[in-house]
Amino acid sequence: MNTKISVMISEEEINKRVCEIAEQISKDYAGKEVRLICILKGSVFYTCELAKRITIPVTLDFMSVSSYGSGDGTKSSGVVKIAKDLDETLEGKNVLIVEDIIDSGNTLSRLIPMLKERKPASLKITTLLDKPDRREVDDVTVDYVGFEIEDKFVVGYGLDYDQSYRDLPYIGVIEQ
Ligand code: IMP
Ligand code: MG
Repeated sequence: MNTKISVMISEEEINKRVCEIAEQISKDYAGKEVRLICILKGSVFYTCELAKRITIPVTLDFMSVSSYGSGDGTKSSGVVKIAKDLDETLEGKNVLIVEDIIDSGNTLSRLIPMLKERKPASLKITTLLDKPDRREVDDVTVDYVGFEIEDKFVVGYGLDYDQSYRDLPYIGVIEQ
């Protein structure tokens, strides 16, 4: 009840950065169409804000994945299970995976090869947040990063703690 959340990245800072990334994407994909793949649920807010600001044609699709640890269940190191698959085929599309945060990188490390098998024309990744110090894989290259953050558990702007706080318009840290 008494949970206090301190602001790490304000709504204004996020808006500004999302505008910059959208501008860069619009330039890089000039003359093309981009298919944004929103990884549910955390990436919903970032996907919408990004899509609104990209000036080239955009299509959207949604996917829900869960990663299971091989050991004690606290790490996302095991297999990636597709809980909800995409509705559309990716063949010949310029695909941009939209993530909320990349932590260990294990989820994407397993998801990328699965999506490449579907023969997109190109496959890139954007994430609002990146915790590079936490990376456990070396095969995940992020093309557009919103903010690199230190190793703290963050909530808001789609990110949850036990399904709560996704609706906060900023990125915050829970103060115990
Ligand atoms: P990983 O890169 O496979 O370790 O998993 C990244 C996923 O873990 C993200 O998509 C989030 O769902 C979740 N996650 C990682 N760090 C945080 C955090 O600080 N707050 C909320 N969720 C997080
Ligand atoms: Mg996620």
